Amino acid sequence: MKFNTLFTLTTFIGHLAAIPTYHNSDFSHVGISSLPYDKQIISACTEPNTVGLAFDDGPHIYTDQLLDLLHQYGAKATFFVNGVNYGHQIDSYKSVLQREVKDGHQIASHTWDHKWELDKASNETIMWEMTTLDDKLDDLIGLRPTYMRPPNLATSERMLDVLKDYHVITTNLNTDDSGGNLDWSKSCFDDGLEEGGSLILAHDTKDIAIDLATYMLDMLKEKNITGVTVGDCLGDPKENWYRKAGDDFRDSFLLQNKENPYEKYIKTGL
Ligand SMILES: *[C@@H]1O[C@H](CO)[C@@H](O)[C@H](O)[C@H]1NC(C)=O
Ligand SMILES: *[C@@H]1O[C@H](CO)[C@@H](O)[C@H](O)[C@H]1NC(C)=O
Ligand SMILES: [Zn+2]
Repeated sequence: MKFNTLFTLTTFIGHLAAIPTYHNSDFSHVGISSLPYDKQIISACTEPNTVGLAFDDGPHIYTDQLLDLLHQYGAKATFFVNGVNYGHQIDSYKSVLQREVKDGHQIASHTWDHKWELDKASNETIMWEMTTLDDKLDDLIGLRPTYMRPPNLATSERMLDVLKDYHVITTNLNTDDSGGNLDWSKSCFDDGLEEGGSLILAHDTKDIAIDLATYMLDMLKEKNITGVTVGDCLGDPKENWYRKAGDDFRDSFLLQNKENPYEKYIKTGL
């Protein structure tokens, strides 16, 4: 199914279920550095001339090469990672995660094992999927992401309520790369960009990942659009991308967390 159709359908279903979708104009009453946490789906960037580069399902065997490529183009990206996926354990990718952060990329959550569409999971399962990965990332790199993208983009009002402490990110520029067809994904990207899409969905787990990313980065360069992290494309400063262990709400995070985990990470260097 072409993304257009999918998007229209999703939007339609979204309206039926009365799930609020986050738009540029909503920004006025939430403030530049306080993205909505409550029952919001963020599917578009807000910073002009930026595109949010976002790769799901990794880290994987292509991620290191993707990082080389991003470095070469001076672009940044968000990695929505899993703890276990494609038969890989995140433990064996500690150095890749460290490199992602050091290179200025953003690490975000895509749940522990990608097993559940979260609209079908119990409240407890949703929280288990999130906290299990948060704890593991805390272990490996000392960071607990505040951004998440739900597996298969499945959302529901209840799930958004349970995930009120996270920014729930979807996409408005789906490369549809799951089938591994490079030409198809290139045309999805071109069409999506043409139609004003800004928040990308791609995967660093596909063997077309490097070719597709090269194509996207070339096109963005040609159009003078900067590829950035999702946080950056929403104008959200880095200190909001992660929280400290034990912090349940963003407000308490801001009040208690005088030393923000990102700064600490950069300082200690890992
Ligand atoms: C699951 O969470 C939702 C939203 O917070 C709540 O309304 C509902 O009662 C919860 N369900 C159960 C079984 O606890
Ligand atoms: C490219 O974009 C930057 C800002 O994003 C702008 O300052 C510059 O003038 C643009 N260059 C061209 C050739 O459009
Ligand atoms: Zn996924």
